[in-house]
Amino acid sequence: MSARLDWISHAGAALRGSLRVPGDKSISHRALMLAALAHGSSRVSGFLEGEDTRATARILQQLGVRITAPSAGERVIDGVGLHGLRASAQPLDCGNAGTGMRLLAGLLAGQDFDSVLIGDASLSQRPMRRVIEPLAALGARIDSSDGRPPLRIHGGAPLRARALRTAIASAQVKSAILLAGLYADGVTRVDEAQPTRDYTERMLQAFGWPIEFGPGWAALPGRQSLHACDVQVPGDFSSAAFFIVAATLVPGSELLLRDVGLNPRRTGLIEVLRAMGADIRIEAPRQHGGEPTADLRVRHADLRGIEVPREQVADMIDEFPILFVAAACATGVTRVHGAAELRVKESDRIAVMASGLRALGIDVQENPDGALIQGGSLRGGAVESHGDHRCAMSFAVAALRASAPVRIADCANVATSFPGFEALARGVGFDLHVATQAQMA
Ligand code: S3P
Repeated sequence: MSARLDWISHAGAALRGSLRVPGDKSISHRALMLAALAHGSSRVSGFLEGEDTRATARILQQLGVRITAPSAGERVIDGVGLHGLRASAQPLDCGNAGTGMRLLAGLLAGQDFDSVLIGDASLSQRPMRRVIEPLAALGARIDSSDGRPPLRIHGGAPLRARALRTAIASAQVKSAILLAGLYADGVTRVDEAQPTRDYTERMLQAFGWPIEFGPGWAALPGRQSLHACDVQVPGDFSSAAFFIVAATLVPGSELLLRDVGLNPRRTGLIEVLRAMGADIRIEAPRQHGGEPTADLRVRHADLRGIEVPREQVADMIDEFPILFVAAACATGVTRVHGAAELRVKESDRIAVMASGLRALGIDVQENPDGALIQGGSLRGGAVESHGDHRCAMSFAVAALRASAPVRIADCANVATSFPGFEALARGVGFDLHVATQAQMA
């Protein structure tokens, strides 16, 4: 586990400049996994050097895959083919990564050896029945600790393809089913509760697997093969989101965020912020490694509260912590419903954001699947991120509008998704530093 790290963040001058956020986490995980199962050598560039994605790389190495890092942000993976992985005598540690664990559960269900997936304290509390049950319906045998990690995946279970319907909107669940489906006899089909990010589908296609998919569904035959493919990973929209909101909130700001992935299943925050009054321009739209990518120019704007449309929730599921901060600085009330999934992320994000914003003087009412946030004036104070990377970065942004410094506890996990956040943030004008013990007292 990483050493404890606290931040202190002060309001400052306008934010100015341009930056490129690190590579997309979802794509980086998937690129490693599919390249590992492919025939031939694949190069991934723009790879996220985060703890989550490095954990996935280490696990694949434990399973016998050769992965080298010619330079930062680059990996070369020598694929072993669909049946080339070999058992690890040690448990496979996914760290903080729900994506790593749930996708690997699907992939490992198809092997002829046993595996044990473990995670850190946060991941060990997260629900896994959502993958265990559909994988069991395909014939997999997975033991858990009452629906939570560790997961013991029994190898050698023959998988039978089926059509499954997911009960919750989750790209992780859909992807776990599709990865198990690679090993199943027949056509595996997933119909989703709501359309979610389709990176697994797009990448399977790029690696040459015959898959058909559209918004909310995917179908693939089992027992084909994957062929090595180079993957260029665009910047992670969820990491860009902190800077989008920061530039919006601080008067006089203008930021250019370069090479941001704009997969339509990820960009709900742009629609919602624009409806609140934000000034976000999409410049130089292009395709980057098969993904829509663009530069985003964001200027300060005054925001007004809105009711977040339920149909946008899945397309901005990771952006609610930072949306809560935008809502706290808007005029009027912002209402969020239909987002109960936030309670089972790296932390209970509704509770963590509500209590942190309340500590900074904002009126937030929680409800089971969302919150009602009354915009107001932020004061300084001490907040807890509960080890949740996205909550920590969101509070650092909130501090830009606070009347006194904000001390943020437990920020080490920012390195899971956004290594180098502090330095990038300081580079465009944040006054953000590691807090000393005295400042946290
Ligand atoms: C992810 C899917 C989402 C998201 C997570 C990454 C993925 O989780 O919150 O950060 O890469 O598939 P759910 O599938 O639980 O919604």
